Amino acid sequence: MRDFITLDDLSNFEIEQIFRLADQMKEQTATWSGFCKGKILATLFFEPSTRTRLSFESAIGRLDGRALGFADPASSSIAKGETIADTARMVANYADLIAIRHNWAGSARVMAEYAQVPVINCGDGGHSHPTQGLIDLYTIVKRQGTIQKKTIGICGDLRYSRASHSLAIGVARFGGQLVHIAPSEFQMPEWVLTKLKYVYDAEPVEAGRISEVIGDLDVIYVNRLQAERLPPEIDPQSAQKAYQLNATIMEEAKLSSMIMHPLPRVNELAYELDSDPRAAYFEQSANGVPIRMALMVSLLGLEHLVLTKPPEQEIMEDLQQCGNPNCITSQEGYILSKSEVICSQPMVRVCAYCNELKD
Ligand code: NCD
Repeated sequence: MRDFITLDDLSNFEIEQIFRLADQMKEQTATWSGFCKGKILATLFFEPSTRTRLSFESAIGRLDGRALGFADPASSSIAKGETIADTARMVANYADLIAIRHNWAGSARVMAEYAQVPVINCGDGGHSHPTQGLIDLYTIVKRQGTIQKKTIGICGDLRYSRASHSLAIGVARFGGQLVHIAPSEFQMPEWVLTKLKYVYDAEPVEAGRISEVIGDLDVIYVNRLQAERLPPEIDPQSAQKAYQLNATIMEEAKLSSMIMHPLPRVNELAYELDSDPRAAYFEQSANGVPIRMALMVSLLGLEHLVLTKPPEQEIMEDLQQCGNPNCITSQEGYILSKSEVICSQPMVRVCAYCNELKD
């Protein structure tokens, strides 16, 4: 049984197969309808969502399956103090597949450990958002032909944006050059940089302002300030002014470049750009449906991927607690801490749930 908790759960070859399947699903809708007949997807959304939940529900509906679930945690037993583990054991009896979004990093991994059906991470706190990562990589390939050697600038709140973390790791895996554009307090977190360096041998460039690098970029990926995850000492009002993409700045960008955004936007992406042919963000959100259709059909084993799974990560129990207060291991006491060794020379260990560095 396969889960999809981070991009690491699929090899590059498997990702490419999912992209080919998504192409077919877009082109031959009649062939694929009926593929998930009798299958039930549970959508457990403990955090707000429009695109992710609706596109999952649309995707399972287009395959003739059904969705059940909730979008408001107050209406579930979690509000009564039920743990992720118990929710997992129970929901697995009601559904063939679980899609979960939750505010704690590592929560989807815990759900996968306890559920007897495949689990898909739809965003776990500020950690990762791997289905958004797949959609973003696919959208780049559709417009630019490839990711390899393309220069991909990720701009905005890189510290707290899970979509940026998954995208950066995906770009590095497919050989793109990363440019991280953010004021210093919103730069990529240490765990992402460590993974990029030690696992993927990537050397991202850092910039403080989009105008410094815009002319070099093939992809300009903007994301919003993750106001709901900011520590109290950061003022969202002043932070929000730190970056904004508009038509004047885009005059300096390549004509062949593309603008992306996982959406929702707040005020970091001017509406005047919607008519710019380089704007790809609505196409990006539309790609959510075929990609999620292809992913679900693959995880349910209805269409076989040629398995080329990456080597198992070295994961071990660890008495040292994770230091991240937003990690699921800090929130639910029954979970044993585990570490993953991402490099042995020098020794680099991270929490297996939220990927924060351990010393
Ligand atoms: C993203 C998320 O939830 O992380 N939204 C999405 O799924 N498209 C990005 C965001 O909320 O900023």
